Amino acid sequence: MAKITTASLLKMKQQGEKISTITAYDASFAKLFDQAGIHAILIGDSLGMVLQGQDDTLPVTIEEMAYHTQCVKRGVTDTLIIADMPFMTYANKDQALSNATKLMQAGASMVKMEGGAWLNDTISALVERGIPVCAHLGLTPQSVNVFGGFKVQGRDADKAKQMIEDAKLLEAAGAQLLVLECIPSDLGKAISEAITIPTIGIGAGKDTDGQILVMHDALGISCSYMPKFSRNFLKDTGDIKKAVELYISEVALGNFPGEEHIFK
Ligand code: KIV
Ligand code: NA
Repeated sequence: MAKITTASLLKMKQQGEKISTITAYDASFAKLFDQAGIHAILIGDSLGMVLQGQDDTLPVTIEEMAYHTQCVKRGVTDTLIIADMPFMTYANKDQALSNATKLMQAGASMVKMEGGAWLNDTISALVERGIPVCAHLGLTPQSVNVFGGFKVQGRDADKAKQMIEDAKLLEAAGAQLLVLECIPSDLGKAISEAITIPTIGIGAGKDTDGQILVMHDALGISCSYMPKFSRNFLKDTGDIKKAVELYISEVALGNFPGEEHIFK
């Protein structure tokens, strides 16, 4: 596999090839996922939940994200490395610039931030200075306390329309990738068709340009519960590398997510 860049992912969308991505937090898993042919690895702030056992992602710090990014980087040869900006590390542009620098210097090739059009100036500032940005809409877990729980987003028509507008504005600001989390599958499809940058869905239906799963969910080892939108690929294969290869091929063939994994 050749080295994967933001340009490769854009080309995949243009050619109608599905993008498979997964989270990782250390060198060993990152190396195995890279060798299995995964297109991007996210060092997610989900590590607060799956590694640290916290109730949500809010306690995660930029130092912890930088540490795990360094670990992942050492295991990766070809895969694109995306690192999450944790809670309140991009509340304003200056904070975002200095904190994103830490993740890029730790080995990331792109940073991810949760939020809509309020992020536009921050995104432009980062991209102009050489830091690619992945945006994230829908159920943005850092806002769990505003949502009043981990709930499917964009269910009413106004909210759905707003999300499509936000996606267009994020693209215009310079975002090169967009994660869509826990939204109805027809909204996932509408957003993916409304913008030219690739969309990566998790609980966003099968019509997004790619999929992402938290590795613990994909392997059935989450310490909390198994989300509706995930599938245990290890159960079908009994081998971690084969599980990830199966995930990639099921996404490529359009078999994952299935009807049982989507929100209507
Ligand atoms: O933190 C994370 O793992 C994420 C993905 C679920 C998209 O943000
Ligand atoms: Na995250």
